[in-house]
Amino acid sequence: MPEIKLKNITKRFGKSVAVDNLSMTINDGEFVSLLGPSGCGKTTTLRMIAGLETPTDGEIYIDDVCVFSAKNAIDVSPDKRNVGFLFQNYALWPHMTVYKNISFGLENMKWDKVKIQERVMELVKMLKIEEYIDRYPSELSGGQQQRVAIARTLSTGPKILFMDEPLSNLDAKLRMEMRTELKRLHLETKSTFVYVTHDQLEAMTLSTKICLLKEGLLQQYEPPLQVYRNPANFFVADFVGSPNINIINVKGNIVNIDEVKLTNPSINLLFTPTNKVVSLSENQELLLGIRPEDITIDTKGDFDAEVYSTLPSGMETIVKIKINDIILTSVVFGDVDFEIGKKVKIAFDSSKYLIFDKASEVQLACGKLS
Ligand SMILES: Nc1ncnc2c1ncn2[C@@H]1O[C@H](COP(=O)(O)OP(=O)(O)OP(=O)(O)O)[C@@H](O)[C@H]1O
Ligand SMILES: [Mg+2]
Repeated sequence: MPEIKLKNITKRFGKSVAVDNLSMTINDGEFVSLLGPSGCGKTTTLRMIAGLETPTDGEIYIDDVCVFSAKNAIDVSPDKRNVGFLFQNYALWPHMTVYKNISFGLENMKWDKVKIQERVMELVKMLKIEEYIDRYPSELSGGQQQRVAIARTLSTGPKILFMDEPLSNLDAKLRMEMRTELKRLHLETKSTFVYVTHDQLEAMTLSTKICLLKEGLLQQYEPPLQVYRNPANFFVADFVGSPNINIINVKGNIVNIDEVKLTNPSINLLFTPTNKVVSLSENQELLLGIRPEDITIDTKGDFDAEVYSTLPSGMETIVKIKINDIILTSVVFGDVDFEIGKKVKIAFDSSKYLIFDKASEVQLACGKLS
């Protein structure tokens, strides 16, 4: 089964470590996003798999073939790894038409003329750029150029497609459109996509798995909804989700065998963890995490609160709520608005809490997972 396997991959630039002992397996046909803040090692990881950057240590396998091994001095060149690239500056050749831009690689590979034409037409149909085949890149919009670049990358039928922030030059609307196209393309080509982005929403919506990095260290490698609902640590919980997760400093105590009592001068809550058995020291300092959609404004709610501010956007309203000295974010769906200063009651969905150890920031328990 074709797959990409990284074993203890490390990349140092001088004394700084860009990627730190990374091990992961990308299964055949997966759409994996390398996600994380600027400088966390996403591009370096992608370039190492593609063969454009030499790891300092470790091994890489593609299709069970070792393409890199530090200890056995193996380093297969990028052109022999059967991979395609699509980078942020997807520069098309300005003096070539769309058709020529796409066919050029195939001509270089000495494909037969008729086969080239068939392949190009298949791709332009797939990417809905048929009507532009005789145009030059300067006569296309950014999104159309982007699709030509994708067609060019796909032309040689790479088993693995590497993309480094390919949508970052596009405006928000086009980016959204291209996301949809990329997802369809992934399905249609059945290729493995390895995608770099620092946009958590892009990673959440596109990927079959997210590989979240921080300072070169792997934080979590799981499907998006797992990462969202069962984050490995506070960093992950905070990185995914918009608006950000609410975090409240609490003290935790086990009560009634399997329940955790969370106390804070403003809020007291009771929580039944479902994913693991928690052991806590007395009054252990914890961080309680609760996503905005799990806080509801509800006349039957348990807590008295006040509307601090609102951001209505039509489809939903982000409401900042004040409970004593804590300000929390809630999302209310629909075109509703609230008066600032209004007294309200709020409720927490107790099956959706997350608790983290304050010192290590490791997740200790989460609520029900769907
Ligand atoms: N050629 C290089 N020489 C020295 N340091 C480098 C080199 N390439 C990358 N780095 C360093 O390695 C770290 C990881 O860089 P990388 O480009 O992989 O980050 P990234 O996650 O892609 O960030 P961004 O989102 O900003 O593109 C950074 O600290 C960067 O400064
Ligand atoms: Mg990068």
